[in-house]
Amino acid sequence: MSRLVVVSNRVAVPGENRAGGLAVALHAALQENGGLWFGWSGRAVRGESGAVHEQTEGDIRYVTLDINRRDFDAYYNGFANRTLWPLLHFRLDLVDYDRDTREGYARVNALFADKLAPQLRDSDTLWIHDYHLIPLAALLRERGVACRMGFFLHVPMPSSDLLAAMPNHTRLFSSLYAYDLIGMQTQRDVERFQDYVRLFGGGRVLNDGWMEAPGGRRFRAGAYPISIDTETIATQARAAVTKTAVKDLRASLDGRALAIGVDRLDYSKGLPERFRGFERYLETRREQRGKLTYLQIAPVSRGEVSEYQQLRQELEQIAGHVNGAYAEPEWTPLRYVNRNFAHATLTGFYRSARIGLVTPLRDGMNLVAKEYIASQDPDDPGVLVLSLLAGAAYELKDALLVNPHDLDGVADAIAVAATMPRDQRIERWRSMMDHLRRYDIHAWRRSYLEDLRAL
Ligand code: G6P
Repeated sequence: MSRLVVVSNRVAVPGENRAGGLAVALHAALQENGGLWFGWSGRAVRGESGAVHEQTEGDIRYVTLDINRRDFDAYYNGFANRTLWPLLHFRLDLVDYDRDTREGYARVNALFADKLAPQLRDSDTLWIHDYHLIPLAALLRERGVACRMGFFLHVPMPSSDLLAAMPNHTRLFSSLYAYDLIGMQTQRDVERFQDYVRLFGGGRVLNDGWMEAPGGRRFRAGAYPISIDTETIATQARAAVTKTAVKDLRASLDGRALAIGVDRLDYSKGLPERFRGFERYLETRREQRGKLTYLQIAPVSRGEVSEYQQLRQELEQIAGHVNGAYAEPEWTPLRYVNRNFAHATLTGFYRSARIGLVTPLRDGMNLVAKEYIASQDPDDPGVLVLSLLAGAAYELKDALLVNPHDLDGVADAIAVAATMPRDQRIERWRSMMDHLRRYDIHAWRRSYLEDLRAL
């Protein structure tokens, strides 16, 4: 089988924490036939962009690239995270479009292409990840690279009218036509992209996910819902209950039930709405006060971007308000924590929580929802409250599905979850866990790569 080359903005180099499911899956895929993982070094350096670092572990080579401060600000803090991220999450109101950052994004993608092209052979299978690197295949083809190229979009594909609201949108989005297979999280994402191709992108939609670009080149898009390493997480969660941090958390609850949320501190996650939904629950269920503690873990993310800084301030304000209004001398209703925890510890936290709160305003998939399920005790599982607007809602249909904009609906779901009888909890959990056992992260990468290699 052909060699696999993975390209992503972040690279899980040897020695680094490889706890995330994606890193595990890509690592396993690279190991099968030997491979190369290429991406950003994680450093914003002084001087010029372009220094390359190499390491090898077993049959896998890791090649990473330094980017200088100016390029990093334009590419990552700018176009990727102030233009594309809000656009792809349906947040036109937050989109900041700027010629300088667009050029920085193009410059960094061209640098990736320059450094990667000489490493590639025509027999390779190339798999490029996420919105940071949309134009990379087109840039590689301009440099004469002829291998099979796939793309996976981890985030949502929004409605075509939103895409078309971005200045010069066709230049960027039609560069996707250079791929052979474009993987997306759900069938809805694929359909929205097909609308774009048809209505704004000058292309044609054929059968079975196939499309045709204006010059006649054919490519395909399909839904490949990403997943988790289900068995490993279930095992980890079982073991994690002996960890000090997990025991301490359990002891601190003093017999009260726990609701948990774990999200990067990002406006797509619906955290202000979730805090207010919890407040509504406390406000309208006087008899439940003091019985449920909500722990929100929200590690700071993209902290150099102003929208993220503002969100942080807003959350501090709401958390303070909720606790000021409802706390008792012996009980804090909302524990809000910005630090990060080891992945194994989190699985123990999930297992300790009667309720998992996953209520993003938009999410490509959301793996916390899946990890929460995989971490539960089969004999006494918790209840997942899940946003209808997360990709995961297409699969986890036995969660309590809520509209995250409906505070009363969120409050109702918390109340239902808090009092759900054990047999109902078990029934819902089993059906979701069966699904996750069958469709785990390894099934995901196998089915995508099989399809890409079959083209
Ligand atoms: C999302 C994106 C990923 C990204 C991750 C963390 O899941 O789809 O591409 O790596 O967020 O964000 P960061 O900006 O820290 O890489």
